[in-house]
Amino acid sequence: MRIGILTGGGDCPGLNAVIRAVVRKGEGQYGHNIVGYRHGWRGVMNGESMDLGIGSVRGLLPRGGTILGTSRTNPYKTEDGATRVKSTLARDRVSALIAIGGEDTLGVAHKLGSDGVMVVGVPKTIDNDLSATDFTFGFHTAVQIATDAIDRLHTTAESHDRVMVVEVMGRHAGWIATYAGLAGGADIILIPEDPFDIDEVAQRITHRHRAGASFSIVVVAEGATPAEGTMEVASGELDDFGHVRLGGIGNQLADEIERRTGYEARMTSLGHVLRGGSPTAYDRVIATRFGIEAIDAVDQGEFGVMVALRGTDVVRVPLEEGVEKLKTVDHKLFDTAAVFFG
Ligand code: F6P
Repeated sequence: MRIGILTGGGDCPGLNAVIRAVVRKGEGQYGHNIVGYRHGWRGVMNGESMDLGIGSVRGLLPRGGTILGTSRTNPYKTEDGATRVKSTLARDRVSALIAIGGEDTLGVAHKLGSDGVMVVGVPKTIDNDLSATDFTFGFHTAVQIATDAIDRLHTTAESHDRVMVVEVMGRHAGWIATYAGLAGGADIILIPEDPFDIDEVAQRITHRHRAGASFSIVVVAEGATPAEGTMEVASGELDDFGHVRLGGIGNQLADEIERRTGYEARMTSLGHVLRGGSPTAYDRVIATRFGIEAIDAVDQGEFGVMVALRGTDVVRVPLEEGVEKLKTVDHKLFDTAAVFFG
């Protein structure tokens, strides 16, 4: 068989580990040919392919990013997009496709599946917001980077008696903020799931400082929003999937905190740093297991599925299930982090 593989959406530590696993087992054990498509769905539409042999995936396990490149292109937003995808696959004699991505990339995979393309999905996102899997790879790495940063920011917070606001990624769900905030000992965590009241945030900080604390650490997810009518926020441009470009809530929050409490506040936005560099050992293991399960599914002729982690098992679930619902932060987990607020 000739099997295509692509990475779509934001890059994420562990993508290369999935590619390596697919090629190693796909070619090495099953004797298939693996064809890589560049830059996500854009590369499939434009026919940008490259042969991926075992030699081309050597040394990939610890490497961040994706050797295939990625994009946020949606073929269903491009004229003849789905037809162009199919003609590239026919040209390359590719009979099955492994799509590695988040809700958008897998949403396209699901639609193409209904249009007759043989596709298997692999869930990735540092945001960990896909409901069909307990964890996505990349999340653990992002949490570790954010926790290291919070540890370091404590030094400045303590030395200068400051409020340090740390903005982390997390568009629809505050998993990174909650995990890193819990691990880093945050005094306040703000997530998209619970719109915040800036007055309440300021009061909690004031209360904490009056009770003897000389500094505070506030972790905010980029997708966190103020409760209606409490604070003005700026909005940015939209991408192909209709998502607004985020980043900036931390700045506004630091300004408001300083204005309302009188304590000096500073903001650090970790942004794409959280997606960069080498995956943690945990993410390398999940990514590898996902890649192996995906190539096994293709070899066994099972399509329209996504691989997923359930407990400690890697399983296959219908792609539809993987993209139908976002996984938001578990309240019990957030309540555990909240015990240490203020
Ligand atoms: O992968 C998801 C994500 O990390 C979101 O949290 C974030 O909003 C988005 O990617 C930003 O990606 P980019 O700026 O690369 O388009």
